[in-house]
Amino acid sequence: MRLLPWIPIALLPALLYLYFTSPSFIPLTYTNFIEKEKSYENICDYSNGTWIHDKKGPLYNDTICRKIKIKQSQNCIINGRPDSDYLYWRWKPSQCNLPRFEPLTFLQLIKNKNVAFVGDSLARNQIESLLCMLATSSTPKRVKHKGSRRWHFASYNANLSFYWSSFLVQGIQRSDSPEKGSKYNTMYLDHVNERWARDIDEMDLIVLSFGHWFLVPSVYYEGDSVIGCLNCTGLNYNEIGFYGPLRKALRTSLNSIVERKAAKGNRIDVIVETISPSHFAGDWDKGGTCSKSTPYSEGEKKLEGTDAEIRKIELEEVENAKAYSKQFGGFRLEALDITKLALLRPDGHPGAYMNPFPFANGVKEHVQNDCVHWCLPGPIDTWNEILLEMMKKWKEKPRSEGFLLSF
Ligand SMILES: *[C@@H]1O[C@H](CO)[C@@H](O)[C@H](O)[C@H]1NC(C)=O
Ligand SMILES: *[C@@H]1O[C@H](CO)[C@@H](O)[C@H](O)[C@H]1NC(C)=O
Ligand SMILES: *[C@@H]1O[C@H](CO)[C@@H](O)[C@H](O)[C@H]1NC(C)=O
Ligand SMILES: *[C@@H]1O[C@H](CO)[C@@H](O)[C@H](O)[C@H]1NC(C)=O
Repeated sequence: MRLLPWIPIALLPALLYLYFTSPSFIPLTYTNFIEKEKSYENICDYSNGTWIHDKKGPLYNDTICRKIKIKQSQNCIINGRPDSDYLYWRWKPSQCNLPRFEPLTFLQLIKNKNVAFVGDSLARNQIESLLCMLATSSTPKRVKHKGSRRWHFASYNANLSFYWSSFLVQGIQRSDSPEKGSKYNTMYLDHVNERWARDIDEMDLIVLSFGHWFLVPSVYYEGDSVIGCLNCTGLNYNEIGFYGPLRKALRTSLNSIVERKAAKGNRIDVIVETISPSHFAGDWDKGGTCSKSTPYSEGEKKLEGTDAEIRKIELEEVENAKAYSKQFGGFRLEALDITKLALLRPDGHPGAYMNPFPFANGVKEHVQNDCVHWCLPGPIDTWNEILLEMMKKWKEKPRSEGFLLSF
């Protein structure tokens, strides 16, 4: 019970009334009660806009990324990618401007905090982009931590962690080689993956980024029973597709966060990143490439099919979890909706430059391309610019102290 002493008791009924009748049902603190929700206006929709040419170029280069040992397969410059036009674009949301990333502001905002990126290799891609940008101001130190890769910023007493959890829920990833494991993912849709979830208590901000591992053959469990599968010819289970399981996995994860953290009255911020589309022309495993060297212009490429559907599910589950968490204070949840802006960047992937100098010995017939992950530096830096803007907004609009909820 955290009744702020300076709130006149006589105001409480009015506050309560406002709280329960405010259209967005957002817990009000005394200050924003006075300000009449002013700060809720003019919230920019960062997901809608266009990529415009920008002479400034990226905040960092491969020298800095190499210091913190980012994954070599995303270091396109080092790997010999010859064109550089893809580095000179800036995202322009249609109703506002997206400021350039400010490492010091970000570090100030995470002071004394533990920030966790949870998910698949795109979550790792994004945290590495963030680390490269932050390293231009303050060099992080790798520290040992069970279950995650963790970087520590000593002057800010802040941690950034990456937890590998490609389904968010418990499961076993499939393998391409039969000796190494099953050719199907096994997923337990109603059990959150403890690898990250056991640390929820220590986390201040969680960024969830996942999805791609749901598109491959899988067997799904709820409780002890198989509820169906995806592309499991020969196993005699019902084909149920992956949309339902993806929704269920996200719901299980968000509910776990709410129940374990917010229910105890502890504060936490959660961001769900929407799906990052890939750009293979052709099949990813049959010589598909992504050789376009400029972004699509607005309207040139429509969001549709699987990407559109996954994004929709993710946005819906964020709304569901918001509704569920209303009974608890101290819980903030937003979607970081990058699907549309990422869709417009077929030029931002490593392509053949996932490997060093792929054409050193002449042009081969088949070169494996990576049209899923993003070059560093590259468009994924923009996801973090939006993340920072969201965190700045949150700072201006502090969440409820919880006093209204503890009556
Ligand atoms: C995006 O912004 C443009 C320009 O403001 C507007 O015409 C369009 O309706 C917006 N699209 C969406 C999906 O909000
Ligand atoms: C990379 O960035 C660092 C620091 O900003 C700078 O000193 C260095 O000259 C840059 N290297 C290249 C190759 O541009
Ligand atoms: C950061 O990580 C270190 C090492 O794992 C830990 O001792 C420390 O408590 C963490 N700091 C915060 C603010 O979570
Ligand atoms: C399932 O397999 C069929 C046939 O190989 C394929 O066309 C389809 O794309 C697969 N579905 C998914 C979601 O991978």
